[in-house]
Amino acid sequence: MQPLIAPSILSANFARLGQEVEDVLLGGADRVHFDVMDSHYVPNLSVGPLVLRSLRKHGIAADVDVHLMTKPVDRLIGEFLEADASTIIIHPEASEHPHRSLSRIREGGAKAGLALNPGTSATALEALLELTDVVLVMAVNPGFGGQSFIPSTLTKLRAVRQLVAASEREIPVQVDGGIKVDNIAAARAAGADVFVAGSAIFGVAAKAPCRADDYRTVIDAMRTQLAGAS
Ligand code: DX5
Ligand code: ZN
Repeated sequence: MQPLIAPSILSANFARLGQEVEDVLLGGADRVHFDVMDSHYVPNLSVGPLVLRSLRKHGIAADVDVHLMTKPVDRLIGEFLEADASTIIIHPEASEHPHRSLSRIREGGAKAGLALNPGTSATALEALLELTDVVLVMAVNPGFGGQSFIPSTLTKLRAVRQLVAASEREIPVQVDGGIKVDNIAAARAAGADVFVAGSAIFGVAAKAPCRADDYRTVIDAMRTQLAGAS
């Protein structure tokens, strides 16, 4: 699969979020990563379905991957389906019945994603693989942007890649956390298809009003690295 870049809006300027998302898409982003944190499953608190609905009303038509770091998770699945999420990604530890949660997402018309924390083995995927359309491999512990990539993620990515290949279905493998220009090629070589990056992309926007150009510079640098990865 062609590699895709999915900026995490967690590091965007929330005071001008619609413009930020437009700019990062203009800068070449392939899809949008929308981090939902509840100050319970993870320490941080971010945004909910209202904000996604506002982005859709603002005219954002790109695919949006909603990453739910919330416990409980099922009620929010319904709300994000209504808010027109393209993919909804859950953490198995945050659901009493992850099999049922994934089924609900699919029945609601979105793609179902399963996130694997650094402390969760790749084998957690096996029993849920048939209901999983996207795997998100966390390269940091969930909760904050701007953390460092945990090196053992590369081993996890290789294990997940093997499980996905054995399924003979096209299941994109996303990697999330600490992705930068200088480590994206290693993540690609280990088997990732979709690269979530927050601080590496939104962190460069110092010079309004040419933010789209700033974002393009980083995204292009990431694509150059991806092209050289093997
Ligand atoms: C962490 C989030 C990530 C995060 C990525 O809990 O799921 O999506 O925002 O941010 P960076 O790229 O700064 O690690
Ligand atoms: Zn995320």
